[in-house]
Amino acid sequence: MIPFAKPIIGQEEIDAVNRVLESGMLAEGKVSRELEKLFAEYTGSKFATVTSNGTTALSTALEAMDIQPGDEVITSPFTFIASANSIAMVGAIPVFVDVKPDTYNIDPDLIEKAITEKTRAIMPVHIFGLPSDMKQIMDIADSHDLLVIEDACQAHGAEIDGTKVGALGHVASFSFYATKNMMTGEGGMITTDNEELYDEILMVKNHGRGKEGGYSHFRIGYNNRMMDIVSAIGIEQVKRLPDAVKQRRVNAQEYDDFFSEFNSIKPQVEDPGFKSSYHLYAPRLYSEKMNRDELVTALRNEGVGSRAVYALPCHKQDTYLNIQQWRWAKFVDYPDYSAVNLPISEEIGLRHFDIPVHPSLTEEDKEHIKSAFQKILG
Ligand SMILES: Cc1ncc(COP(=O)(O)O)c(C=O)c1O
Repeated sequence: MIPFAKPIIGQEEIDAVNRVLESGMLAEGKVSRELEKLFAEYTGSKFATVTSNGTTALSTALEAMDIQPGDEVITSPFTFIASANSIAMVGAIPVFVDVKPDTYNIDPDLIEKAITEKTRAIMPVHIFGLPSDMKQIMDIADSHDLLVIEDACQAHGAEIDGTKVGALGHVASFSFYATKNMMTGEGGMITTDNEELYDEILMVKNHGRGKEGGYSHFRIGYNNRMMDIVSAIGIEQVKRLPDAVKQRRVNAQEYDDFFSEFNSIKPQVEDPGFKSSYHLYAPRLYSEKMNRDELVTALRNEGVGSRAVYALPCHKQDTYLNIQQWRWAKFVDYPDYSAVNLPISEEIGLRHFDIPVHPSLTEEDKEHIKSAFQKILG
């Protein structure tokens, strides 16, 4: 089976981890500072700090933004559930706004209608590596005095008009989960240009300690830190990131050209100036011959690691259908998510599938994947 993801782990990563082990200093320290510096430079952000994973990167940032129980945060339903869960974790209410049919990202034209007096923030998700419409989203946020947190967990290296994600909103969160474009197994990063927010983030992620560390504590915080062993892998991975993203884009372009011959396959669309980092290559199927699940099965039978990751958008997941069981429900008035109707997300949920696009694909792998399509749909 050609896998949907293949982490690149070279001698560099192994040596870097060994150096940390030999140093005896395993917890978050100077190796993490070095990774933060490299990542801030890469994204063009003023500040960056590591976290234990992408979910804690999101929840730490939301808590530092002073999002309160009962506040509303507008986000996309067509995402990994961690986006919505991070909002629910801090006691806030995820308000799902439908996506655009060709980009699968939150539709800015629908955001304005969803804003209420309880809305505090917008969390656009750059899904599969394609940036959301940040210009329009920032304009809406400015006019309503809202904060914008980019969920860039899938989008390391993506950009709009030459500016990288992570430097487009007020704050951004990244995941270094094992299958991501840049990975450390588990891990995360928060970026921002706002020094006050950065200081608060440092306290939330580290038991309310001030910058100087030690045993003075100034607010309730958590242990959402990253180990230097993990950051050592991250340093080698961030060095690989530009080439990895370039190769993902070459592979995606090759698929786009190939699928232009198929009426039944519609790829995710990059608007002018937008550059996806192609964490996933996930087109939609419009065929009379078979449905999406049948296609995924047929592809897997041909040795192609295909999946349909968000067949159930967040508002259709039991987590939200049963939100009254969540601990904050005693204090927070959640909407009835079973009444939420988001037809575009639901349709993409039924039609999308992904195929391997990672940078380790060989020419043979890509030929194999294309002939599988010819055989199945041709
Ligand atoms: C869009 C999105 N948000 C958040 C997360 C959470 O990241 P992590 O798995 O590192 O906690 C992920 C990762 O899988 C993701 O894809």
